[in-house]
Amino acid sequence: MQIFPRSANAIARASIVGGAALVGFLGFLLYMLQQSPYVTQQGVALEQPVPFSHQHHVSGLGIDCRYCHTSVETSNFAGIPPVATCMNCHKEIWTNAKMLEPIREAYRSGVAIQWERLHRTPDFVQFNHSIHVAKGIGCVSCHGRVDQMQLTYQAEPMSMGWCLQCHRSPEKFVRPRDKVYDMAWKADDQQALGAQLVKEYRIQSKTNCSVCHY
Ligand code: HEC
Ligand code: HEC
Ligand code: HEC
Ligand code: HEC
Ligand code: HEC
Repeated sequence: MQIFPRSANAIARASIVGGAALVGFLGFLLYMLQQSPYVTQQGVALEQPVPFSHQHHVSGLGIDCRYCHTSVETSNFAGIPPVATCMNCHKEIWTNAKMLEPIREAYRSGVAIQWERLHRTPDFVQFNHSIHVAKGIGCVSCHGRVDQMQLTYQAEPMSMGWCLQCHRSPEKFVRPRDKVYDMAWKADDQQALGAQLVKEYRIQSKTNCSVCHY
């Protein structure tokens, strides 16, 4: 005598297959979540004490990155400008704008303004701006079209895999040093130019763990 009806087989099989699919699907969801901009903060603009627009100041007014990020060529840090830099102009322009009151207040009181920080590598990672600039890696390769951002956001994932895809093949990204700050520049033939610049600038492919980790 049969205890289970014949159909039970089919049900069992279906639920095993279904269960496996469900586990797979949940795993997939977790993976997507981990890679998602929500977790990496990619593409998310933060609310700032003053809605500073790179688009307006860089594309509109033609101010060079180095006018504000003064230490990008010489140190690990690019640096965030003090309000005195803003006041070079805003002492004269838009002096009554309410939007700029936090800048004027910080200037009067000497208490620095607290910008929300977007990019932050973990403590166990070492990063250095100056070597990247010196070896012909453009700001746009790592920060995207900052010159088109009304509010600043993180354009790239900044994950280890992301760092490595360039460290493995720098020829895909390197540009002439005088184009490092040029956001719109593109090579006519990156493959040929890249190979040539890798030689000229003596760029090495650095993938040892100790390059980035203490
Ligand atoms: C007039 C001054 C000024 C100029 C010019 C300027 N920036 Fe900025 N930048 C700022 C200020 C102020 C902040 C902080 C507020 C914010 O994140 O928008 C900032 C933030 C940033 C950040 C995000 C920093 C972080 O992690 O929080 C990046 C990246 C950046 N700038 C890149 C650039 C690049 C690339 C250029 C040139 C194309 C440039 N900036 C030109 C003033 C300037
Ligand atoms: C080289 C001159 C110059 C510097 C330096 C400068 N600004 Fe401006 N800023 C301007 C001008 C000009 C405008 C007006 C733009 C327009 O409306 O055409 C402006 C407009 C603004 C506005 C109004 C909104 C907008 O983007 O139009 C804000 C906010 C602002 N600036 C913040 C800042 C902050 C914060 C700094 C310092 C990190 C700064 N600015 C540095 C020239 C400057
Ligand atoms: C190879 C990738 C890369 C390049 C090229 C690069 N940056 Fe960055 N930038 C980063 C990383 C990573 C951080 C976060 C650094 C940290 O956590 O200390 C950062 C942070 C910043 C910050 C925040 C303040 C600071 O120093 O931490 C500013 C401003 C900035 N970059 C501007 C620039 C400008 C301007 C250029 C072009 C000269 C540039 N960056 C080129 C990867 C890059
Ligand atoms: C778009 C290309 C690119 C990206 C993205 C990039 N790098 Fe680099 N990095 C380079 C190049 C090119 C060099 C110079 C290699 C050499 O010395 O010849 C370099 C050098 C370095 C050095 C200095 C190595 C030394 O010997 O002093 C460190 C540290 C470093 N990168 C860390 C990072 C980290 C961390 C990230 C990710 C957050 C990153 N880089 C992303 C291109 C890149
Ligand atoms: C070009 C720079 C670079 C190199 C080379 C590199 N890492 Fe990383 N690593 C990073 C960055 C950046 C992070 C942080 C990623 C993040 O915050 O999402 C990281 C994170 C990690 C983590 C933390 C877990 C994780 O994935 O976030 C471990 C573990 C690690 N790296 C091990 C290694 C080992 C082992 C090697 C050598 C095989 C290595 N790394 C080489 C840049 C690098």
